[in-house]
Amino acid sequence: MGPRPSQEILIAGLARLEYRGYDSAGIAVIDAEGGLNMRKKAGKLSVLRDSLTEHELAEGTTGIGHTRWATHGGPTDVNAHPHLADDDRLAVIHNGIIENFSALRAELEAEGVTFRSETDTEVAAALLGREYRKTGDLQSAFLAVVNRLEGAFTLLAMHQDQPGLVVGARRNSPLVIGLGEGENFLGSDVAAFVEHTRHALAIGQDQIVSITPDAVTVTDFDGNPVEPEPFEVSWDAAAAEKGGWPSFMAKEVAEEPEAVANTIRGRVRDGAVVIPELDGLDDLFTGINRIIITACGTASYAGLVGKYALEHWARIPVDVELAHEFRYRDPVIGADTLVVSISQSGETMDTLMAVKYARERGARTLSICNTQGATIPRESDAVVYTHAGPEVAVASTKAFVAQITALLLLGLHVGRVRGSLEDGAASVAELEALPAKLAHVLESEQGHVAQLAGWMADTRSVLFLGRHVGYPIALEGALKLKEISYIHAEGFAAGELKHGPIALIEPGQPVFVIVPSPRHSALIHAKVVSNIQEIRARGARVIVVAEEGDAAVLPFADEVIRIPLAGAFFEPILAVIPLQIFAMALATAKGLDVDQPRNLAKSVTVE
Ligand code: F6R
Repeated sequence: MGPRPSQEILIAGLARLEYRGYDSAGIAVIDAEGGLNMRKKAGKLSVLRDSLTEHELAEGTTGIGHTRWATHGGPTDVNAHPHLADDDRLAVIHNGIIENFSALRAELEAEGVTFRSETDTEVAAALLGREYRKTGDLQSAFLAVVNRLEGAFTLLAMHQDQPGLVVGARRNSPLVIGLGEGENFLGSDVAAFVEHTRHALAIGQDQIVSITPDAVTVTDFDGNPVEPEPFEVSWDAAAAEKGGWPSFMAKEVAEEPEAVANTIRGRVRDGAVVIPELDGLDDLFTGINRIIITACGTASYAGLVGKYALEHWARIPVDVELAHEFRYRDPVIGADTLVVSISQSGETMDTLMAVKYARERGARTLSICNTQGATIPRESDAVVYTHAGPEVAVASTKAFVAQITALLLLGLHVGRVRGSLEDGAASVAELEALPAKLAHVLESEQGHVAQLAGWMADTRSVLFLGRHVGYPIALEGALKLKEISYIHAEGFAAGELKHGPIALIEPGQPVFVIVPSPRHSALIHAKVVSNIQEIRARGARVIVVAEEGDAAVLPFADEVIRIPLAGAFFEPILAVIPLQIFAMALATAKGLDVDQPRNLAKSVTVE
């Protein structure tokens, strides 16, 4: 919204947000004559872009745009957003799920409304059209509509009769305001507008925003004015661009040393970990007898590494729970429980709901998050940000190593506060040495691992084994491969092998084994070496990730990938890199889209 033509700004903004969902895209613009023009297409944003090049859409200075990840109704042109109402004079876009849409649709159908799509969004559009016709005022119509909707939604609307206005609302789904000069922006993520402004306002839960070129007003769902919270985006547009890399994933893997260094920066004082955001919050850690870490997918595997480290340093029981299971199983929690959520996006609906549930049950909450102004940190008592910078590729890489880093920082902080930490200085030295070691792995192993992946492009299944903190890394290695290479992969705790999975081993079966350093525990190391011998004896093709100088693995490994020496809890950050590179190189060898794998979306804002 502003003096400049909207179309190009919308398409560029959508390109930056396409990672959130990419099965259809659309825009609507109000032109100089006050007419509303819309184009939407199933497929990636490029399909819409081509269509706009082929048949131009009239220009205008007010516009909205959307990329979709299908929930209600398949990815078709008709189901794509925007959805129109009020004789195609009103356009609506929506993220989330409107749970009472069937009842609302029936109500509107009874009044004679016909629907073109199968979406819940069109129901919201039709409802807004009905309200608008009563008052001729978009803001009051919008207020009436949001109060009738149940579920999660970010909703934006504009009407051709009020061309200088866009209204938006959010409930459990993200929406941020970008403040320009004589122009204003709304986006699901600051990435949408960071090219134009780094001044932003965060909109709270259940709030409505109206923007014109030079004014922003925010109210709650009752229409009471609200003062939105300003913040500055700490990175610039270049950080969210590919910058010559073949893929965002390749760029983000290369950024891992920096992501870890930035996450540590400012959190070590006089040789001890002191997290400034947690100043004055010692009772979060002393007044509890239990920690539950909750997250989904990759973030939950970071949580597993965190569990081992936190229990060791802070001597407090820690459980890791998938957020979508935790929330629905009537867990025993209360004021003596600290629930730590981990989320790169800060918007994952499953994790958000788990945090809300924990708060309702009286637990204290702390989030580890990579996105400023996101919903999960706003719903938590405290937040420790990871500073990995924007992660665009759907498969999480640099955010994962930053999450483990933040958990290690948290473990050392809590251990110090609880008085249980021994030899914290050695761990701080380990932490600070990580970025250089990460850079070393990238430099020394990238070519070797990529070559391995090239040889294995026809592989149909890969197994991953790990023990201790190598176990979550095995799970993560398997997830990365499934996600972007579409190859069946499974991660196991190495000790679990003989309880069933060993039946899968047949001659030629590739198995990655994450071998812990013998310096940490000769016993654990010896057990893993025995596991390697067991699978090798059954014909497995063994690819070992082991510490430099570990000669015990050599007689049984077909391939050895080396990582530098590091402390027990620091090793996983190094060991995961070759697995990320392997998945990326294999997907590339198969000619797949590394950044936008099928069926997935970066930010899963539905439960
Ligand atoms: C896998 C991946 C997902 C996310 C999960 C949680 O590469 O990225 O498994 O880790 O969807 O997302 P966040 O961290 O945004 O809550």
